[in-house]
Formats: sequence, structure tokens, C-alpha cells
Amino acid sequence: MSQVLVASNRGPVSFSFSGDGALIPRRGGGGLVSALAAMTGDVRNPDVLWVCAALGDADRSAARRAPGGRLGLDGHDTGGAAVRMLDIPAATFHRAYNAVANATLWFVHHLMYDTPRAPHFDARTRRDWQSYEAYNAAFADALARDAAPGAKVAIQDYHLSLAPRMLRDRRPDLRIVHFSHTPWAPPEYFRLLPDDIGAAVLDGILGADHAGFLAERWAAAFLDCCEPLPGARVDRAARTVTRAGHVTRVGVHPLGVDGDALRARAAEPDVAERRRALRERVGDRRLILRVDRTEPSKNIVRGLAAYRELLARHPEWHGRVVHLAFAYPSRHDLHEYREYTAQVRRLAGQIADEYGTAAWEPLILEVEDDHPRSLAAYGLADVLVVNPIRDGMNLVAKEGPVLSERGCALVLSREAGAAAELADDALTVNPYDVSQTAEALHRALLMPPDRRAERCARLAAAATALPPRRWFAEQLAALD
Ligand code: F6P
Repeated sequence: MSQVLVASNRGPVSFSFSGDGALIPRRGGGGLVSALAAMTGDVRNPDVLWVCAALGDADRSAARRAPGGRLGLDGHDTGGAAVRMLDIPAATFHRAYNAVANATLWFVHHLMYDTPRAPHFDARTRRDWQSYEAYNAAFADALARDAAPGAKVAIQDYHLSLAPRMLRDRRPDLRIVHFSHTPWAPPEYFRLLPDDIGAAVLDGILGADHAGFLAERWAAAFLDCCEPLPGARVDRAARTVTRAGHVTRVGVHPLGVDGDALRARAAEPDVAERRRALRERVGDRRLILRVDRTEPSKNIVRGLAAYRELLARHPEWHGRVVHLAFAYPSRHDLHEYREYTAQVRRLAGQIADEYGTAAWEPLILEVEDDHPRSLAAYGLADVLVVNPIRDGMNLVAKEGPVLSERGCALVLSREAGAAAELADDALTVNPYDVSQTAEALHRALLMPPDRRAERCARLAAAATALPPRRWFAEQLAALD
């Protein structure tokens, strides 16, 4: 088997400083890392190298101290891969990650600009863009240096859209896949980007042999965006784009969850302890659950507004239902995210004031990173709400039904990539329609337990159809 290299912004491990300045490693967070950490173990190749960015000072210090820049960590943390953490200068990293990747490309792919905040691209954008180029070049350099002849390289996400082209220019012998974990913008929205930047993003990904997406609609949007690119020939039937003699195949790989691994994790004592605490807090009331990053695209505010409307329109639920909203802090360097988190907290406070009593806490919002608690809550939920305005896949919609003990009903946005596989057994909603979402919550709460259980079993089966290991193996196979 050939050598495999993985490249992603966030790696399988991250460091913090202890009080006495020692480095403490911990598993990196996020859906991408979970998926890839599960999969690298299964490639059954001792020669997997994972290249990632140092995310803060502690990571930079670890990267500098590691011999040859490679961190040899035990298999549990990294899925068996060796890790090379790139010590990218802090200012370059900040502009590439925050200004370009998260405040521009993420906004475009999730259709997150609104009229008062329409983008304003100016000289500063060009400066940020140069940092994004430098950040991508640092990855391409490291991959080019470390890859054996003919190795396979899996480059992840919108942070690294230029790296495939840069790597092909440096090492034409390598076989490269780029995978987008986000939606892809439709062409009329993608056109918001300055022409040179939009063309560079497409050209960068077209440096790969295979461009992977989570859902059919994102792959189709990518092909639509490639159509007007000078020199590109799009063959929709074959799902290929040919440019300057190089063919990029476009594939759809709907990432699912590993049911056995997830259930094994949920059986651990830290989860059991949290399950007991939650049971006590919720009592015998119905439980509506949501689990998200504090992320505007996750649409938490409209989700809470829908719960408020449910309580207003259906007073029969007063005292009989609790809404748990778990929100992991995310990207707080960006003011849009800080503002959004504040908005979520304000609305949650209003709902608590309007409906809460000494005997009944209608809404519990927790803004903190506690993964085991979310796993515990999946087991107890009667209803799971996943209502993003747009989402590449959304693995919460897949994890919840797998861990459900009561057979939970899923209220699911039609704009999540997961809807392509789960819509038949979910209650699908237009994420902008708060009233419709409120009514879906009501219907979900009223669903007879046996119907809920049947639907939940089918959701769990669909959710585990393509576990991370097979998802990754499919992409590597596409390179042969
Ligand atoms: O959805 C894309 C993605 O990169 C996920 O893989 C990840 O869970 C999420 O965004 C978090 O992003 P960040 O690394 O900025 O916290």
C-alpha cells in the first residue's frame, strides 16, 4: 500500500501549557478530526503522516521542540498517524484562518452575508489573501518534502483550497484528493468573491485528481462554478472538469458515523455520570435537544425562537418539556461569532424569564465544550433539532439517532447535507420558517413511541451507511 498523507488545518492533537509551562496534549476537536482520526487507524498503514497547523503558542512550541517537526504520539490520539505540525507565523495564520477561511470562504459557502453586512473586498482583503497563499504554500512545501514517490495525499477543506494546485506543481507524481466538508456556494453567490480570488480557489482544487463533496448538491454547485472558469471543460455526465490537460473527477462521499465506536464511547463512565446528572435535571419531562457549535450557520437563534413559539401556541407543554441547548464555543476571534453567541444567550434568557417557574426550567443553555455530556443527552432525547441554514453534512443529525435510547424524532433542516439521506424519516423544515419549525417540534413530541422508534432505527441505519473508514477508503480508491 502506498504512503498516505493527510493535510488539515486542525490536527488530531493540540497542546496547552500547564501552570509550570509543560506542554499538555489533548485530542483535537471538530467533526473533521473525529472522522479522520477514526479512519487513519483503519488504513492499516504505519506510514500515515498527518500535516496540520500549529493553532496557538503551545502548539508552536510543541512543533519547534519535536524532532524534525514530527510529533510521535500514541495511536489513540492520532489514529496511528505521525503528526507534523506546521509552525506558521501567528499573523499569517490569523489572516489565513480567520480573515480568509472563516470570515470569507465560510460565509460564501454558507450564504451567510446579508445586505447590511455585504462583503467589502479591498486592499486589506488582498493582504489577507497573501497570507492565505503563504499558509497554503507552507502545507504544499511540507507535503512535497515528506511524500514518498507516488504517495496519496488527502487535503481537507476550505482552509486548503490552494494547496492541491501548489502541491501538483511541486510534485506531479503524487495522487491528490481534496475534500470539502462544507456546502459549496451556487455560482451567483460564489461570484461575490473578487474574480481573481474565486478563480484561484477553483483552480487550486482543480489541482487535485479527485474533488470530494458530502452531498450531490454541493458537487453540482462546484461543477456549476467551474463552468465559466477560463479553459475549464465541465462534463456533467462523467462528473469531470478538464483544465490544461489535467482531469479532476468530482465525487460524492456522504460521511456517516461509526456506530460501534460511538456506542462504545457512550458506554464509558464519564458519559454514564453525565447521563445520571441530566436525568435528575430533566426528570420525567420530554426532552428536546440541540447540539451545535456557537455558529451562525447552525441557526440556533431561530431554533430557540421556534421553541418559544411552541410554548406560546401549545401551553399544554408547559411544565412537561425541557429544551437542552448545548453550544460549543467556536471561532471567538471573529466578532460575528461573539455577537451571535451573545444573541443566543439573550434569547435563552428571555425564554427562561417568560416561561420559567420555581418548579420548571423550560430551557437549559450550556455554552461550553463537553462532548461526553452531549453523548449522554443523545441517549435521553425525545426530539433532536438540527436546523442549520446550510450545512455540509451535520453529524449531530447522525450521531443522535445512533445513540438514542428512547427512539428520538429528528427535526431536520432541508438545507443540511444530511437531509439527502435522512429526510424520509425526519420531520424536515425550512430553517428560516420559525413557525413551521415550532409545529414540527409539536408533531415530534406527539409522535407515538412505536412510530418514533421505527423511524429512529431507520435513521440510525442510514447514519451508519458510510462510516469514516469506508468514507476515506472510497476516496483513496478513487485515486487508483
Ligand atoms: O465543517 C467544516 C469544519 O472544518 C469541520 O470539519 C469542523 O468541525 C468545523 O468546521 C470546525 O471548525 P474550526 O476548526 O474552525 O473549529
